[in-house]
Amino acid sequence: MSIDGEIDRRRTFAIVSHPDAGKTTLTEKFLLFGGAINVAGAVKSNKIKKTAASDFMEIERQRGISVATSVMGFEYRGKQVNILDTPGHQDFAEDTYRTLTAVDSVIIVIDAAKGVEPQTKKLMSVCRMRNTPVIVFINKLDRPAKDPFDLLDEIEEQLEIRVRPLSWPIGSGPQFKGVYDLYGEKLNLFSGQSKQKVEEAIEFRDLNNPDLEQYIGEDFSATLREEVELIQGVYSKFDPHQYMQGHLAPVFFGSALNNFGVRELLECFLDISPAPQSTEAQERHILPGEDEFKGFVFKIHANMDPNHRDRIAFVKVCSGVFRRNTNYLHVRAGKKMKFSSPTSFMASRKSVVEEAYPGDIVGLHDTGNFKIGDTLTEGENIHFKGLPSFSPEMFRYVENADPMRYKQLDKGLDQLMEEGVAQLFKGKNNGRKIIGTVGQLQLDVIQFRLKHEYGASCRYENLPMYKACWIESEDREQLEDFRKRKEQAMAVDRHGREVFLAESPHSLKMAQEKYPNIKFHFSSEF
Ligand code: G4P
Repeated sequence: MSIDGEIDRRRTFAIVSHPDAGKTTLTEKFLLFGGAINVAGAVKSNKIKKTAASDFMEIERQRGISVATSVMGFEYRGKQVNILDTPGHQDFAEDTYRTLTAVDSVIIVIDAAKGVEPQTKKLMSVCRMRNTPVIVFINKLDRPAKDPFDLLDEIEEQLEIRVRPLSWPIGSGPQFKGVYDLYGEKLNLFSGQSKQKVEEAIEFRDLNNPDLEQYIGEDFSATLREEVELIQGVYSKFDPHQYMQGHLAPVFFGSALNNFGVRELLECFLDISPAPQSTEAQERHILPGEDEFKGFVFKIHANMDPNHRDRIAFVKVCSGVFRRNTNYLHVRAGKKMKFSSPTSFMASRKSVVEEAYPGDIVGLHDTGNFKIGDTLTEGENIHFKGLPSFSPEMFRYVENADPMRYKQLDKGLDQLMEEGVAQLFKGKNNGRKIIGTVGQLQLDVIQFRLKHEYGASCRYENLPMYKACWIESEDREQLEDFRKRKEQAMAVDRHGREVFLAESPHSLKMAQEKYPNIKFHFSSEF
């Protein structure tokens, strides 16, 4: 097959959700359709379970297992589908954001009873930054749910994206009868019994056909007709172009656990979702069809298990063909490297790849050469646009606890930050190092890894801050005044960008009011 054919048939995406909305369950059902696994529960067992923070070793053990499922590939309807897995644990949210830079589209799962949750919003804001096309799957309709119209309004309002339902639920909870597939014009009836069996949907082009009553009874028929009419009136016809530009999210309803409404989602996804798209580099746009290979590292996985202390750098192929045992330029390091055993990930099977195409992910064994954002090319000096950092939620001063080994501590911290374990800032007035994380788990992981991998010890000192804001202004006077007055709260990130550490929502608000010409950003990319 030609390279263009290979590109055309690839779909690289991620399924994301607020924890517990059903991401893992939906992923598993997709894999079942793709024949990549044949038992329900196969993915589930790899999921990072909800564990107390002190149990991070257990989480790491599970993370080790989940390397194999970092990318789950399968073929379906002639398409090569690559699902990029994202960590289930909230404390590793940064990993998820980075993974989103390597996908061409996203499916967001929302719990029908809970609606939009905090993590859903954050994930959507990351998608919005790159205009990533998004499909929404509203899950758990077999449980009592919010009104579907209210859910749509909530999504539009809170996720700031226009929506267009492509399937519609008939009842919910104990009354759940099924969904009407507006996209395929089919009726899909729910029978609560067969949890894994997928019933054939019934072709149903005209809802005024009196046969509808036979299937779902008079009341539900009347409601469905009314609601579908309302939908046709309120929402304009689905426009795939708007979806591709990230301006419109098609919405599906179903129950992942019952494998219900999932096939419609997958079928439609394959019809409308984008093949590998161009990638933005500092120098220029990189088109997938270019002859020369280019790729970037979006994730590094280090195994904490002392018996397998290997690191894997995950490279997204952006253009051309990646080939085994071929010399490539590591642009940042300015040196040529070749890889004898690059791996691909087909479901839970790892295997050595000879070639990989745009949209594919290859895993490269790494002995510390890579950091997140690094570029590999056939010689061209290309730098992919940085991956965004988001304001951490937790801040700690980090202190050396072993005066004899401060060099090791510096080296360890540097490397861990390059892997993206957490963010490091430096106080402007006192030069002290500040670690910023999403949760306690990352702090534990850092301490543990410093000790076991670098022989260094660190101590944390509480720094009760609310957010780190990257600041920007054209008004030099205001900026200078702000810097002077907030000297104690100013820091720089690892790239030397200036951040303001706001103590509380109130202090941030005060600063925003007092300095209207300064912009305060919660992410490093704006
Ligand atoms: P996550 O990856 O987004 O965190 O969610 P996950 O798929 O693990 O699902 C979270 C919980 O919700 C699981 O229950 C799962 O079985 C359940 N669930 C997922 N989809 C549906 C659905 O369509 N209907 C209903 N009723 N439940 C659903 P759990 O009790 O936490 O785990 P488990 O013991 O069932 O594995």
